[in-house]
Amino acid sequence: MSGKHFDQAAAGWDQKQRRVELAAKIAAGISNALPLTKEMKALEYGCGTGLVGLALAPQLQTLTAVDTSSGMLEVLARKIAEDNISNVSPQRLDLLTEPLAEKFDLIFCAMTLHHIREVDQLLARFCDMLNVWGYLAVADLQEEDGSFHDPDAEGIMHHGFDPAELATTLTGLGLEQVAVAEVHSIIKAGDSGEERSYPVFLLTGKKG
Ligand SMILES: C[S@@+](CC[C@H](N)C(=O)[O-])C[C@H]1O[C@@H](n2cnc3c(N)ncnc32)[C@H](O)[C@@H]1O
Repeated sequence: MSGKHFDQAAAGWDQKQRRVELAAKIAAGISNALPLTKEMKALEYGCGTGLVGLALAPQLQTLTAVDTSSGMLEVLARKIAEDNISNVSPQRLDLLTEPLAEKFDLIFCAMTLHHIREVDQLLARFCDMLNVWGYLAVADLQEEDGSFHDPDAEGIMHHGFDPAELATTLTGLGLEQVAVAEVHSIIKAGDSGEERSYPVFLLTGKKG
């Protein structure tokens, strides 16, 4: 999917119950796995319409919500205005080409990694942007056979991931207490109508 696809999908994004439910499970997984506090400055990468970020924001001091799709960010900005939320700042940015100088106590990224070609580079950037004792949380699909997205979907760089391999990468980047949990399983009907299950993992770690 291209940025344009997400711009076009933004208005109806939250109408798919499957996405709302998944985001709630990921937010709960992060909240349960990590000691979130009102002192934390957080960054979400690939925030979309804020389904995960807005669920976590009340537990944080600030949340910088980054995405490359202006359509997604417009929907998020509308929610922020309507609900009078003061600690969430949407920002349009591609971290791989426009690094942020700021450091964060928490960086999280939900269902976005499979859209990024240079995953190792992005994970290294996340680790650089963490304060010492800061936390990283990444949720995405476990390796699948390519049937999760529509065959004509653009911008799918990976058919999920082996979380153990990503965990090894994070350990190599200096993160400690690296852990993997399954937070949800997405049930979708295949072409012939049979239901298929796509597990979603949450990978967490702490900068030592
Ligand atoms: C599947 S959506 C997930 C949105 C949100 N995290 C959620 O769970 O509802 C993927 C998001 O990643 C964003 N995205 C895709 N490529 C990106 C990139 N290179 N940098 C930042 N965001 C990107 C898209 O615009 C989209 O909002």
